[in-house]
Amino acid sequence: MRATGFLVPLVAGLVWVLAQPVTAQMTTSDRCGSCHRDIFKMWRASKHADSVEGAAFLESFRQSQVAWGDDRSRVCLDCHAPMIAETGDWELREKVTWEGVSCDVCHSLVDVDLSGHGPRMQLEFGPIKRGPIIGAESTGHEVAYSPLHEKSLACAPCHEYASADGVPIMTTFSEWQNSQAAADGTTCQDCHMWRTKANIVDPRVKRIERAEVNLHEMPGGRSLHQLVKALDIEYDLVRTKEGIDVVVRIANVTGHAVPTGMPSREIILTVEVAAAETARQIDQRIFGKSFVDASGKPVEYTWGFFETGVRVDKDTRLAADSEWTETLSYSLPDDATAYFKIRLEYRNAMAEMQYEATRFEFFSERRTVKRGSGRLR
Ligand code: HEC
Ligand code: HEC
Ligand code: HEC
Ligand code: HEC
Ligand code: HEC
Repeated sequence: MRATGFLVPLVAGLVWVLAQPVTAQMTTSDRCGSCHRDIFKMWRASKHADSVEGAAFLESFRQSQVAWGDDRSRVCLDCHAPMIAETGDWELREKVTWEGVSCDVCHSLVDVDLSGHGPRMQLEFGPIKRGPIIGAESTGHEVAYSPLHEKSLACAPCHEYASADGVPIMTTFSEWQNSQAAADGTTCQDCHMWRTKANIVDPRVKRIERAEVNLHEMPGGRSLHQLVKALDIEYDLVRTKEGIDVVVRIANVTGHAVPTGMPSREIILTVEVAAAETARQIDQRIFGKSFVDASGKPVEYTWGFFETGVRVDKDTRLAADSEWTETLSYSLPDDATAYFKIRLEYRNAMAEMQYEATRFEFFSERRTVKRGSGRLR
């Protein structure tokens, strides 16, 4: 009880600090985070918060500057440091710029223009923050309900890109537009920002009945949780006269190609069959999109996708809603017991990612097929 007299001014002081309205034109995310604490924590853990500071981006961007000079490499910053459109801070000196895809960028979005070459954002910085809540009220800033924020269109400006000569580099938004998910009204937000228990605002600032927010971590392919949801895989083992047939079927159940996004990502399927009497037999299928440069050499660095003269070499990705199936045949001695293994891996490993290349398994099963067992064809 004795402590109360001491706590009241402390709490009141804190609320006063937190409740300072957002007045500046453009605001850093930690400022928004003083009230939207839970959302800030999620955003901090997202790739959006890392879009300039990430080691892979910085290295790739630096190389593009060396290769092309500062002016041409500015293209990278349109998406990775979008605040530049407003600050003109090309040297990335100010925090509002280098903190990347920030709260204020997404919540100052008023429209997306699809009429030109590629989708373009229209941003309006100022006192109004736009979002999905109807009838929100805040002492921190003005609010406006924005139906755009519940649509995939809000993600289009940075998740779709074709080069000046029309080569499609990143096509996540258009893949989605042509998918069954789009026809069913399933948005990017449904799959990447599902609703989760957390406070919209620190309860000391405003007590809100409904403690639910949209996940701001926006997990993608590096997330095991997402990958296991992306593909349905089935296989069948069939004993033949010569050995064994493995019939594999993989269906893409996302709303875009898998993998999607920057063409640095791959899904690798590996099937292995072994028997005591024979050497291991391994087959691998790679689902991905590869590019070659003007001289026909494979593109090694992410900035290379943006070079003039690049073209698509192969596109073996699993298209949205598609089903891929193949029968792989293995010969085995009569009646040998076969050891079978099947696995799927995710890989994201361009040359500039030497310290943070990603490769991990997200599906794996083993079977032993005994003499005389399995289905006989
Ligand atoms: C002083 C505290 C405070 C600060 C600082 C603050 N907000 Fe808010 N914000 C609130 C409150 C309170 C609400 C109302 C929530 C409600 O009524 O459900 C809100 C609502 C919102 C909404 C929902 C609007 C809608 O209609 O859907 C968005 C988006 C938002 N804030 C973004 C931001 C961004 C971006 C920043 C930083 C530039 C920021 N806020 C800074 C307190 C704050
Ligand atoms: C202003 C540009 C911009 C907008 C708008 C935007 N993104 Fe992004 N997004 C990026 C950038 C840049 C990255 C990559 C950051 C990095 O890894 O360097 C990214 C990364 C991601 C990733 C993570 C990919 C991975 O590597 O794991 C997902 C998922 C994602 N965004 C989903 C969304 C969704 C959903 C929306 C719409 C609600 C959206 N983004 C809106 C620019 C944007
Ligand atoms: C890549 C874009 C993007 C970034 C970055 C982003 N938001 Fe959001 N935010 C959204 C979208 C889209 C929604 C609405 C999702 C929906 O309703 O489907 C949303 C919803 C909200 C809401 C309403 C409550 C809720 O969760 O539905 C608040 C408040 C909010 N964001 C604050 C913030 C703050 C604070 C930050 C930074 C710490 C931030 N956002 C960063 C896109 C973004
Ligand atoms: C039906 C659910 C669903 C919808 C709709 C959806 N996604 Fe995804 N997305 C996923 C799953 C699952 C993954 C993980 C598999 C992968 O990486 O391809 C993923 C991966 C991603 C990645 C990461 C790619 C990588 O390999 O790291 C990005 C970026 C992305 N989605 C953006 C979007 C955008 C933007 C939209 C809307 C235009 C969208 N997604 C719509 C389910 C969905
Ligand atoms: C049209 C928007 C856009 C432009 C322009 C752009 N990027 Fe990106 N970049 C993204 C998005 C979105 C992702 C990640 C999500 C995905 O794969 O879709 C990404 C991912 C990356 C990654 C991988 C980061 C990781 O950890 O996975 C690197 C590196 C990168 N970009 C470098 C560059 C460089 C260098 C340039 C300029 C030459 C550039 N980007 C131009 C939107 C863009």
